[in-house]
Amino acid sequence: MKLETEQDSYEWLWAAKALAAVSAWSGLGLFERLRAGPLPRGELGVDPRALAVTVPVLQHVGLVDTDGDRVGLSPTAERLLATGAMPTARNLDHLRDLGRMLEVLRDGGPVRGDDGKSKATRGGTVDDPEQTERFLDYLWRISEAPAKSTLAWLGADLAPGAAVLDLGGGHGRYARAFADVGHVVTLFDQPSVVAISRKRHGDALHYLEGDFHTVESFGGPYDLALLCNVVHGESDAANASLVARVARSLRPGGRIAIRDMFVDDFGQDPASAVFFGMTMLFYTDHGTSPTLPQARAWLEAAGLRDVRTSVFESHQIVSARRPRADPPRTTQ
Ligand SMILES: C[S@@+](CC[C@H](N)C(=O)[O-])C[C@H]1O[C@@H](n2cnc3c(N)ncnc32)[C@H](O)[C@@H]1O
Repeated sequence: MKLETEQDSYEWLWAAKALAAVSAWSGLGLFERLRAGPLPRGELGVDPRALAVTVPVLQHVGLVDTDGDRVGLSPTAERLLATGAMPTARNLDHLRDLGRMLEVLRDGGPVRGDDGKSKATRGGTVDDPEQTERFLDYLWRISEAPAKSTLAWLGADLAPGAAVLDLGGGHGRYARAFADVGHVVTLFDQPSVVAISRKRHGDALHYLEGDFHTVESFGGPYDLALLCNVVHGESDAANASLVARVARSLRPGGRIAIRDMFVDDFGQDPASAVFFGMTMLFYTDHGTSPTLPQARAWLEAAGLRDVRTSVFESHQIVSARRPRADPPRTTQ
């Protein structure tokens, strides 16, 4: 994605326009109404000129078909609706927030709403329980493959019935993947999020509630501690402190694994991590896409060894072990 000509910037705007059109169609319930079958344009109850302009846009991105007057859903749109993956009107809020980029650049994030209040979240969660539950459902949906690959990569090292901590485990899909193969998994999160996770998983998991900024002990000792998509919401210093405290909850030989969208050693790739940094700038107090050198520094400063990095499409896992014998204390 390079800006080399004036045309390139027009094309970037096309993507924003397509997202706005799809999100507004969702917001007005048009996709839902078409699930029962194609309808004549006049029955959609929206402005005829706006409809005439947005139908071809939605055709272009593969979501609707039309025979002239009647408009119907494409198979792709039906699949996205059935799985809850169709973009929603919430994207329009995000586009509105992006319109405040100038203020964010000048004054710093997080972005502020019309009322002047910060729109910072705690790892994507907010005080509104419904909005938090929707966010966690979204993360649950997109975590199926990542949870499997995390288990495949890290599970091979674990003895049967190993003790696993899923810190900031949220919806619990990672925790559940390890529990379903017989490990004993503890999910740590804020009380409101633990309540949501408990509804989904019941006794399949153990739960600990608290604020990971201040908790001294996360229980244990654990054979593996997972931090999936947690460190991007925190400052470098907060992450160093968190990793040091989690390291103390590991058994000798136990491993911490940090799964996130890291920016590579050259600082400008992959695109998913670089652009995600802007989301953190807008919606957290101190977050940013972490870099691989930062992660290695947190792990090494916590006395961990055998640092490994594995790449899974847009994400990486950086992991390290607590030494089997802690170094002897020096006495003066
Ligand atoms: C982006 S979500 C990641 C959820 C899950 N691990 C995943 O990878 O999909 C971040 C999680 O960290 C939790 N979190 C954020 N700040 C926290 C805090 N101060 N104490 C405890 N949990 C926190 C949030 O509640 C949320 O569940």
